[in-house]
Amino acid sequence: MKLILLGPPGAGKGTQAEVLTKKLGVETISTGVMLRAAMREGTELGKLAAQYIEGGKLVPDDVVVGIVKERLSQDDCKNGFILDGFPRTIAQAEALNDAGVEIDKVLSLEVDDSVIVDRLSGRRECKACGTPYHIKNKPVPENGKCVCGGEVIQRDDDNEETIKNRLKVYHEQTEPIKEYYAAQGKVVSVDSEGTVEETTAAVDKALGL
Ligand code: AP5
Repeated sequence: MKLILLGPPGAGKGTQAEVLTKKLGVETISTGVMLRAAMREGTELGKLAAQYIEGGKLVPDDVVVGIVKERLSQDDCKNGFILDGFPRTIAQAEALNDAGVEIDKVLSLEVDDSVIVDRLSGRRECKACGTPYHIKNKPVPENGKCVCGGEVIQRDDDNEETIKNRLKVYHEQTEPIKEYYAAQGKVVSVDSEGTVEETTAAVDKALGL
């Protein structure tokens, strides 16, 4: 399965990817997780990405396309993958197509903007593996660490002002991708406003799992 997860910030892409990666037995490639890892390591990529991520803007297409192409060329992506947070512009979707990557399905997680701020301001995330938690909906294990043992933190871009910018960018630059893939008959849409478990059940049904 070569699957794209599409949806606004806080739609639950990372949360559902965590479940799907186990069910489908394929890796999840999250550009957000990769860029934040580069920021923590202080690499040139990380320094560049920080200038955009901290304001809720998109990192330039050529930069993101480069890291995704490199990652998809690795052996563990040969039998399929889940893309979380990529593509995010029509140019990125076209670059994927030009690279000969055939996508099977695009899973669009639908959530109203009004739900997003609450979800993202309560989010916590593992610094090591990127697993998302939520102070109410998906609490961190009792020892305060991620299931992988990593430190759990709050993301710098999960503040109200940056969340609003990210939503604006999503509607302007990322949402048109839905039309792009709908024209190819690849989009399945799922309501992601219920609980995590309700969304997982709806995803399974939509993907025939
Ligand atoms: P990225 O890391 O991709 O962030 P995002 O798309 O803004 O999405 P989020 O990670 O915020 O949300 P999510 O949908 O994964 O939700 P989650 O499952 O965590 O990108 C960050 C930045 O990197 C971008 O702004 C950009 O600058 C840059 N970037 C990344 N990719 C790029 C690209 N391709 N091109 C250019 N720039 C790029 O859930 C959110 C919270 O809600 C969690 O706490 C979770 O526990 C909770 N939750 C989830 N589902 C439910 C539910 N059903 N009910 C209740 N709570 C729920």
